[in-house]
Amino acid sequence: MEDCLLMNDLLLRPSPSDSDAAQPVTADEPPDAAARTLLAGQYRRVTDHYTTGTAILTALHAVIGPLSERASFAQRRNREHRYRMAALRLVVSIVNHQAALEGVEPNGLFRELYPDRKHFDLPLFEVQALHGAWQRHQKGVRMAVLGHAVHPYYGTYAPSRTSHLELFGTWLSQYAGARSYGVDVGTGCGVLAFMMAKAGFERVTATDNNPNAVESVRRDVARLQAANTIEPVCADLLEAIEDRPDVIVFNPPWVRGTADDVLDQALCFQDGLFERFFDHAAERLGPEGRLVIVFSTIIRLVQPEVSHPIDAELEGDRFRLVQRLQRKVKPARGPDGSKRRTREKVEVWELARAGG
Ligand SMILES: C[S@@+](CC[C@H](N)C(=O)[O-])C[C@H]1O[C@@H](n2cnc3c(N)ncnc32)[C@H](O)[C@@H]1O
Repeated sequence: MEDCLLMNDLLLRPSPSDSDAAQPVTADEPPDAAARTLLAGQYRRVTDHYTTGTAILTALHAVIGPLSERASFAQRRNREHRYRMAALRLVVSIVNHQAALEGVEPNGLFRELYPDRKHFDLPLFEVQALHGAWQRHQKGVRMAVLGHAVHPYYGTYAPSRTSHLELFGTWLSQYAGARSYGVDVGTGCGVLAFMMAKAGFERVTATDNNPNAVESVRRDVARLQAANTIEPVCADLLEAIEDRPDVIVFNPPWVRGTADDVLDQALCFQDGLFERFFDHAAERLGPEGRLVIVFSTIIRLVQPEVSHPIDAELEGDRFRLVQRLQRKVKPARGPDGSKRRTREKVEVWELARAGG
């Protein structure tokens, strides 16, 4: 991942491949043989049709082999990492903002994200991601909690589940404090900021350290003519906030881990994130303010060895717990259509200043 300058903002985009020596591959080569060359460390450039590339990526999964049902979280992450490293070596040439391959639809992101490059290689894996991202951005994702769609930009996290959003909606409907100023930290596609605006907050700052998320919210704010209410800001946590918010909401990453890409950063936190967040909040939250953290019990289920970041803060003397709402997660459907039950619950933690 690298930065590019777009409309005076830095945006993240997939890094072009360092694949000058890539050997061409076409449908004439068996996909599993091509997949093995990727695992052996070679770069390959697909030169005929999109389906040649997708067949090789499918074969790569088969060559790496399936995981057992009982595989641990760490084993799953390792396998994903191995697949990703090999898949990134299968590249496609991008010429004049188009993939030089039969069967690939035009994608406006090549022009938006690479205005400075006329001829370069990208991993097919990333071309697929850019394709999906462009479709999602164009069509939008309807959010039942808002009653309208948001249009997540490339590299922007958008929730695929809704239980935690509904629970935050429940909290908002109960909240009886001031609604002058709210901050949505780690705003992603902006859903919580839009919920606060809908719930009557006069002004909301939506921050994210991912510039693509901020661009995403900036575009939706313009589309929905909400510029008087919601201000998107690119910043680490609350460092850009100078006023005293009535409510600070944060839906942070829910498990600890390393981030392979910008979307992982939405899902996995690294040491220090919560400590920094609580430090920032302690400096800025208004005297009667509320700190609201949208969280999940998943960390206790899959990482029992990790110290719980909110409990750890509550052991200190800066914040007290006002209430914690919990709700069961609706079972998701597996690839075979069957319902997958989970013991996970989503949570809303409401904290206030310890003396308040
Ligand atoms: C789980 S997502 C939540 C997105 C959105 N608020 C929602 O509820 O769907 C976490 C978000 O936090 C952002 N984030 C992670 N670390 C951050 C940091 N240090 N400063 C600001 N935002 C951060 C990520 O980029 C991501 O957009």
